[in-house]
Amino acid sequence: MEVAKTISELRTVIKSARQAGKAIGLVPTMGCLHAGHLSLIRRAKRESDFVVVSIFVNPTQFGPNEDFSKYPRTLEADIIGCAEAGADLVFAPTTDEFYPAGASTLITVGSVAEKLCGEFRPGHFQGVATVVAMLFHAVQCDVAIFGQKDLQQLAVIRQMTRDLCFPVRIIGHETIRETNGVAMSSRNRYLSPEQLEQATAIPAALAAAKALSKTGITDAARLREVARTVIASQPALKPQYCEIVGLETMTPVASTAGQRCAIAIACHLGSTRLIDNALL
Ligand code: PAF
Repeated sequence: MEVAKTISELRTVIKSARQAGKAIGLVPTMGCLHAGHLSLIRRAKRESDFVVVSIFVNPTQFGPNEDFSKYPRTLEADIIGCAEAGADLVFAPTTDEFYPAGASTLITVGSVAEKLCGEFRPGHFQGVATVVAMLFHAVQCDVAIFGQKDLQQLAVIRQMTRDLCFPVRIIGHETIRETNGVAMSSRNRYLSPEQLEQATAIPAALAAAKALSKTGITDAARLREVARTVIASQPALKPQYCEIVGLETMTPVASTAGQRCAIAIACHLGSTRLIDNALL
């Protein structure tokens, strides 16, 4: 497996993979890789012939009071993990390489980015869309894999890919969970063992809404309420939102009847922000 630190190194390797007729798969990450990321890499391996993993803690998607400076950076271990999972190339640019002085273009995606996390993290999806578009241009991938845990991010990227005519197939890959059901996230490192236990109320809330939905209930207020009650039973969790949304619009719905929906939750647990969702 090779490691490219600059766009020019990346392009040289990609060019020879393309000349060899290989389909390129991209797994964009911010590093601090866990089993969820490794599963994305293995999926990319099944969907393409040459897998690029990008590792870049993207400053433009963090708000001024967020965890950019303390976000865990574990490049050495990540490179080993990528090699073991079957990646062919790691692209790990520095911030100066990827955002040279004077860079000022930002991509705004529209209404799909406005609710849920968009409301609580102004500018976040602008940063995500911009860096993902840059990665698509730099890597020239045929397929890109994203985790469904970041459901709104996936919807934003699908919209951006359509709108900007990127010839990239977007795949949403299932959420990988800790043994106690909590969605895997690099930010779980911030949690104490006690908090990791308290966080189980989030998947429990999703499961309660999903179970109610399976009985035929389509009223979003009822589905939301059952989930909110479970969240409220764990006082350590401070919810930001718990909403039933349309899968493509990421906008709250009144009823799940006749449309593909999900329940999406964001909570603070101490100073850590956790998100999770379930398809209904
Ligand atoms: O999901 C992430 O890790 C990031 O938002 C992404 C897609 C790598 C963009 O920085």
